[in-house]
Amino acid sequence: MHSVEGRVVIVTGSGQGVGRGMAHHFAKAGATVVVADWNAEKMARTVAECRDLGAEALGVPCNIMEQETLLAMVDTTIGEYGAVDAIVNNAQTFRPNAPVAEVSADDLDVFYRSGVLGTLWAMQAVYPPMKAAGWGRIVNFASSMGIVGGVGFGAYNASKEAIRALTRTAAKEWAADGIVVNAIAPAAAPPRAVGSAHYEEFMRTSPMHRNGDPELDIGSVAHFLCTDACRYLTGQTFMCDGGTYLWA
Ligand SMILES: NC(=O)c1ccc[n+]([C@@H]2O[C@H](COP(=O)([O-])OP(=O)(O)OC[C@H]3O[C@@H](n4cnc5c(N)ncnc54)[C@H](O)[C@@H]3O)[C@@H](O)[C@H]2O)c1
Repeated sequence: MHSVEGRVVIVTGSGQGVGRGMAHHFAKAGATVVVADWNAEKMARTVAECRDLGAEALGVPCNIMEQETLLAMVDTTIGEYGAVDAIVNNAQTFRPNAPVAEVSADDLDVFYRSGVLGTLWAMQAVYPPMKAAGWGRIVNFASSMGIVGGVGFGAYNASKEAIRALTRTAAKEWAADGIVVNAIAPAAAPPRAVGSAHYEEFMRTSPMHRNGDPELDIGSVAHFLCTDACRYLTGQTFMCDGGTYLWA
């Protein structure tokens, strides 16, 4: 029940960061990994790494802000492997932080197109084949910043909370189809964030006082959410952050 061996798993934004680490985890676990990213060079690197780990892997370029490229990516996956068992909607296009008083419509638009619409379109693209199969796993990406109202992250926070709302709604609408839909709110800051005030505050207040590892700390949870074992959990947000944000 806890295996993803032979499962076809799409990870968007797996050219670097958390997505890349999760791709490595799925590759080691024996899944067929579809690396979907708009950066061709980084995508090719992750594909090569997954193959080196012994996995079947395929890079399919896509820009999650354009619906037709997402549909084409899912079509390519099904054409190549005959199924899409799971999708991890990890990619997000970032804009510089701004206080709410200065958030521009352009910034909000990029966060919404990549975060909310990108996630919605990806979910809509995999829904028909998953429904037909009677089984599917969808993992979306949220953020603790959205939940706590992280200062300076207004546009990002709004998009991440909208993704959680979509996650809960699809979880209910698609439960009878055998599809479970959950979200991860990770803490695995990229090298570019190390040294920032936000990162230092996290390291100071986090009970474990360490950054998350994309492959070991986030990948292991994404893995579980894509297995048969994850059969009675849906619509949830998993705080993969070393216990920094505890809600209940
Ligand atoms: N890193 C963290 O600590 C952290 C914390 C909270 C939430 N998150 C969320 O986790 C996810 C991954 O974060 P990360 O830090 O690894 O990000 P990152 O910026 O390091 O990597 C993002 C990846 O997505 C790709 N990408 C960006 N826009 C794209 C587009 N329009 N189409 C296709 N690919 C695109 C990039 O090329 C890159 O490979 C995001 O959804 C982010 O909001 C991360």
